[in-house]
Amino acid sequence: MRIVDLIRKKRDGLEHTVEELSFLVKGITDGSIPDYQLSAWCMAVYFQGMSPREAKELALQMASSGDQMDLSPINGVKIDKHSTGGVGDKTSLVVAPLVAAAGIPVCKMSGRGLGHTGGTVDKLESIPGFQTEMPISQLFQQVSKVGIGMVGQTGNLVPADKQLYALRDVTGTVESIPLIASSIMSKKLAGGADGFVLDVKVGNGAFLKTLDEAKELAELMVAIGKSAGRGTVAVLSNMEQPLGRAIGNSLEVKEAIATLRGEGPQDLEELSLVLGSQMLLLAGAAEDEETAKEKLKTIISSGKGLHCFERWIETQGGNPAITEKPELLPLAPVIHKVRSNFQGYVAGWDAEALGLTAMRIGAGRERKGQPIDHGVGLVIHKKIGERVEFGEEIAEVYARSEEAAVYAGKEVLSVIKISDLPPKQSPLIWGYII
Ligand code: URA
Repeated sequence: MRIVDLIRKKRDGLEHTVEELSFLVKGITDGSIPDYQLSAWCMAVYFQGMSPREAKELALQMASSGDQMDLSPINGVKIDKHSTGGVGDKTSLVVAPLVAAAGIPVCKMSGRGLGHTGGTVDKLESIPGFQTEMPISQLFQQVSKVGIGMVGQTGNLVPADKQLYALRDVTGTVESIPLIASSIMSKKLAGGADGFVLDVKVGNGAFLKTLDEAKELAELMVAIGKSAGRGTVAVLSNMEQPLGRAIGNSLEVKEAIATLRGEGPQDLEELSLVLGSQMLLLAGAAEDEETAKEKLKTIISSGKGLHCFERWIETQGGNPAITEKPELLPLAPVIHKVRSNFQGYVAGWDAEALGLTAMRIGAGRERKGQPIDHGVGLVIHKKIGERVEFGEEIAEVYARSEEAAVYAGKEVLSVIKISDLPPKQSPLIWGYII
């Protein structure tokens, strides 16, 4: 078999066989396919697409290109949650302890932030002492003991996707729905969970900006998960504005703690309940969505969720006192209040621009491996539909320097949209793919 024949075949819109995809994934993994040919193949897929059968086969082949986690030493049904990435998305910090407190073990590998979106591992590392690396055997012991554990990606998980994603990133071929679906699902499958709840974000702060695209991706990912014998559900959720109010690592941890106390922003609490209840349903721990949500609400109101969060933090070396004393979290010294020079109703935010602003003042990274500042970020005080008066505080910037604070303040003012009348609001949840 020759890679040039596979490129021609895809260029002409034909379907690959299982053997061809196996040849391709092997060649990506062992480096025998040169980057120029792989780039040409990616571009052919970008234009010609892939059938659901091909995307599924690619995901399965990539999932087995390296190590695969075996979670069987942990008792119970293990359900993983994945977000396609958004701004201010700290739901994993809320959902994981709620679901664990409901008796469903949570054993998760999470990612770091890149570009305008944040990553759970960075948020956790803003907690003083918190360790995101440990041997797998220790992670399993921890999950068996406290019901929850979360680490960064370790080992040689899905090396084919590492190679392919790096190449897609520099060849303008990231935005291909079958390639995104097979990339994400290969990592989920290799992670070893019994089922997946996928939070597919839609809107200006998400990877996919339109509902149609997000739906197509969600349907494909659910089909891949199910064909691999794992229960899979996707939730299409709104990313037209930041989720909650905080953007930036320790600010987001603070907001997650408030949500576990039942004092968080309404949208963050609602999405956490939706995702958490889907996890309980997949694990067979509730009969229907309403029962599952009630269960999780009781876990919040009884303080069991916050207690589980504290045990989790402590077991991974972090200081659990942050829940009582949030001032123990690193916070940047320059706090700049952003005041409106207009009045009206908030009609929209450019969420991606807010994420990029937070990134540029140090909360995120433009390139893999860049160091970040856990204490900087933004807090948005006004969400879509809320009224703003002249001179009212609409946001706060936490920065390391006056210069960075003033820069971010100007950016915030330039990406808010104001209308004279209350705007029509889009729903937080666009739908489910089950
Ligand atoms: N996230 C991934 O893991 N892969 C993609 O292709 C896009 C987003």
